[in-house]
Amino acid sequence: MPIEITPLTTHIGGRLTGIDARRPLAPDEVAAIEAGMDRYAVLVLPGQAIDDAQQLAYTANFGPFQDGANSTERREELRLDPAFADVSNLDKDGRKLSRDDRRRMASLANRLWHSDASFRVVPARYSILSGRIVVSKGGNTEFADMRAAYDALDAATKAEIEDLVCEHSLIYSRGQLGFEAYRADELARMKPVRHRLVRTHPVTGRKSLFLSSHIGTIVGWPQPEAMAFIRDLAEHATQPEFVYAHRWTQHDLVMWDNRTTMHRVRRFDDLNSVRDLRRTTTRGEGPTAEQEAA
Ligand code: OGA
Ligand code: MN
Repeated sequence: MPIEITPLTTHIGGRLTGIDARRPLAPDEVAAIEAGMDRYAVLVLPGQAIDDAQQLAYTANFGPFQDGANSTERREELRLDPAFADVSNLDKDGRKLSRDDRRRMASLANRLWHSDASFRVVPARYSILSGRIVVSKGGNTEFADMRAAYDALDAATKAEIEDLVCEHSLIYSRGQLGFEAYRADELARMKPVRHRLVRTHPVTGRKSLFLSSHIGTIVGWPQPEAMAFIRDLAEHATQPEFVYAHRWTQHDLVMWDNRTTMHRVRRFDDLNSVRDLRRTTTRGEGPTAEQEAA
């Protein structure tokens, strides 16, 4: 089957057909998918009824894994293999999380625009999200193109931000929602990390804004000034012109490049309906900035 990609918007998103993600990929298929990612930043592969082992094998084509489990989950609470981020509203016994469940509180931060694992020294390259059970109302995933957003800035702003470095932590994103109750062992794992605000894609050479709700300040700036500016940039970068909104169909496999996009999930009735999405994630090339000396 030939690989075909149909654009979904002017800037971002492509619908890819001609791949069976259940089977091993040939090198030229991997290359075609990567080229599609470099161009569209988000690819939607419909009709991929994969299981966990197949998702892991598919993901391994795109580099080393980023650990999936997040800092508020205890190993014994995990429903899925730790290589997965469990993007569901279910506990390990398949029951819906209750309204005040801590894991549910933490996962609500997915409703804020973010880039996956930007709170790690080596942030994510690709996220690969499989729609095992989807909801009929709400729960769209939206993606914003940080390349187009960068391109649309005026020259003075581009010059001003060129060398800025931000600090990212889960504390900041969740803190925006008032979630602050951490155990000491969690806090130790949430120390802020530093990333450049402007990144250059290693293959295309295109520049993009590395924004994320995990950002809590700009190095060397007073925090309120930094956050007001980051909000302005995020508002600019998530205008409808730069966004693709994905409405899920069961067995969609959606992959995005975290180096060049932000995403968020929209509200849905998670107390009364089941949504089971499973994410695997690969690591980027390396740190984007020097870290603060320990
Ligand atoms: C993710 C994420 C959004 C969603 O998987 O990284 O943010 O649609 N998910 O649940
Ligand atoms: Mn995410």
